[in-house]
Amino acid sequence: MAKFVERVFSGVQPTGNLHLGNYLGAITKFVALQETHDCIYCVVDLHAITVAQPPAVLKSNIREVTAAFIASGIDPRKHIVFNQSQVAEHAELAWVFNCVARIGWLNRMTQFKEKAGKDRENASLGLYAYPTLMAADILVYRATHVPVGEDQKQHLELSRDIAQKFNNDFSDSIASNGFGDAFFPLPEPLIQGPATRVMSLRDGSKKMSKSDPSDYSRLNLSDDADAIAQKVRKAKTDPDALPSEIAGLAGRPEADNLVGIYAALNDGSKEDVLREFGGANFSNFKSALVDLAVEKLGPIGAEMKRIQGDIAYIDAVLKDGSDRARVLAAQTMTSVKDILGFVR
Ligand code: TYM
Repeated sequence: MAKFVERVFSGVQPTGNLHLGNYLGAITKFVALQETHDCIYCVVDLHAITVAQPPAVLKSNIREVTAAFIASGIDPRKHIVFNQSQVAEHAELAWVFNCVARIGWLNRMTQFKEKAGKDRENASLGLYAYPTLMAADILVYRATHVPVGEDQKQHLELSRDIAQKFNNDFSDSIASNGFGDAFFPLPEPLIQGPATRVMSLRDGSKKMSKSDPSDYSRLNLSDDADAIAQKVRKAKTDPDALPSEIAGLAGRPEADNLVGIYAALNDGSKEDVLREFGGANFSNFKSALVDLAVEKLGPIGAEMKRIQGDIAYIDAVLKDGSDRARVLAAQTMTSVKDILGFVR
């Protein structure tokens, strides 16, 4: 297959309650990849409206995610930070992909089943088509690498299937337009480290999520030191001491989760954590975790608040990023139109 220039793309929904899972599973990876790649980071507001969002809340959430990106260390001058709705090509390519993807593929998406719940007939058509828009987000930049948490794996596989089918269905036209044997790369998910699936602090069998009604289930990036301490102290655990080996975490989802969180915040592995804390009881381990979490998350929360106070700055970052993203996206759409046979 053709060689593609390496490029990173990823997105975060502006649906409020940005939490430790988003940070450890995705945003810390976004930050690290800036050293080695050209990166495009998107606030996916078109995805957010697949479920109802009050307009004023949506606007504030878009700015909150942008502030979180910047406060975490993403540099919007060296890389691209923008919101999806300012680049119309995302929606345009998503329509093309709606005509490439098969209904059978979308019927297998577990996230749709979870989010639509029992009343599937009443879910929006957008919620169902959500993954084709996600494929368009990535492929409109012909991005090759996509850092995400574990829960997005199936959507990434679908993106690869769509890219592959487009390349196959239009192979003759792709070649005759000078793009060789493939127009789209098959984007690779980057799902790595000890915290690719951070679980709820109240229930180790449930993912930490923005929509959990209990605020005690998650550490929000906006939490202050007191809130962090309270939530970690109240986190569910079991009565045993921490094991010294990974095998001892089997069947102990809450212990496993807290060890994974500690490891990720400390930039180490679960093995390192157990080497240090094996045999410790939870109250000692939790105290160390509070200290670490406050040390790492406290400054980010404070910086987020500061940035959120400057709306003009945030909006200027998003406009500048959108202008730069649009140039790249428009190039892809021109080629896609030629490949499809549209007159332009
Ligand atoms: P979203 O907004 O739900 O989550 C943003 C990122 O955070 C990761 N994540 C987690 N990682 C570890 N543990 C958790 N508990 C946890 N919860 C969330 C997600 O995996 C994600 O990486 N569909 C995407 C947004 C999107 C996107 C894209 C991503 C739209 N277009 C294109 C990549 C490429 C989503 O809903 O993420």
